[in-house]
Amino acid sequence: MELHILEHRLQVASVAKESIPLFTYGLIKLAFLSSKTLPSSEHLSVADATWLALNVVSGGGSFSSSQPIGVTKIAKSVIAPLADQNISVFMLSTYQTDFILVRERDLPFVTHTLSSEFTILRVVNGETVAAENLGITNGFMKSKMVQRPVIHPLSSPSNRFCVTSLDPDTLPAVATLLMDVMFYSSGVKDPMAAGEDCGHIRFFSFSLIEGYISLVMDVQTQQRFPSNLLFTSASGELWKMVRIGGQPLGFDECGIVAQISEPLAAADIPAYYISTFKFDHALVPEENINGVIHALKVSHGGTH
Ligand code: ARG
Repeated sequence: MELHILEHRLQVASVAKESIPLFTYGLIKLAFLSSKTLPSSEHLSVADATWLALNVVSGGGSFSSSQPIGVTKIAKSVIAPLADQNISVFMLSTYQTDFILVRERDLPFVTHTLSSEFTILRVVNGETVAAENLGITNGFMKSKMVQRPVIHPLSSPSNRFCVTSLDPDTLPAVATLLMDVMFYSSGVKDPMAAGEDCGHIRFFSFSLIEGYISLVMDVQTQQRFPSNLLFTSASGELWKMVRIGGQPLGFDECGIVAQISEPLAAADIPAYYISTFKFDHALVPEENINGVIHALKVSHGGTH
């Protein structure tokens, strides 16, 4: 298995809902046009670390259909070892793949930790080269914990989600709809219905990474799109969300993704995982949500 370290140097930022009008111009450029940065502003909160994106590439491909999807696939090989080394991650699952973001300053520890499992390759000026392993550890002694209790409160919103993709050539056909969903609408068609449904979360994810578009949206939002444009997996599966965090999670704490993804991997439940500025979000197949809530709640302060 190969682990690719992409060339992108990323920052994580957040705009308060009421300040979105100030950023619409910059965000439209960032999301749909070629711009790569937002102008800095006192209304933009930027986390201080610079992050690098890692991506597991399975060599053969012949087993890919039987491989579990998403974070479940990398829970044991990537997420748990990094958590054991006290390395903070930021997860971005997309329709196509899962990106594990690590802080640039942690890179020597990351390559050292993962070098036994992976051939680590780094993209430099568009060329893929072997990443150097300097043999540096952060000196963190992993305590052989048998369990990793879930630390933060979990909640499960009522909406059902789909993980979809879009041919970049058809982006113009839905650009105005995307702008409406991202900047102007409340995320549901009928605001009355949403008001009554207090378990509803407003969540929409759009990513355009190396030409691949990935969209995560709830079923109500999906219904606003022309039916033939969005790709979904053949099974057309719907996903329920587990939102992680009561207070904003910050960027330094380690092991949050591992606390959620390890039990899911142990139970062979596919999952996507999307970290945002404040909270984390795991998506599991809707038929598994009750089992997942049970399993994770049990391990919350668990006694066994
Ligand atoms: N750093 C956490 C971990 O290592 C995940 C990210 C949580 N923070 C956030 N802002 N979403 O598990």
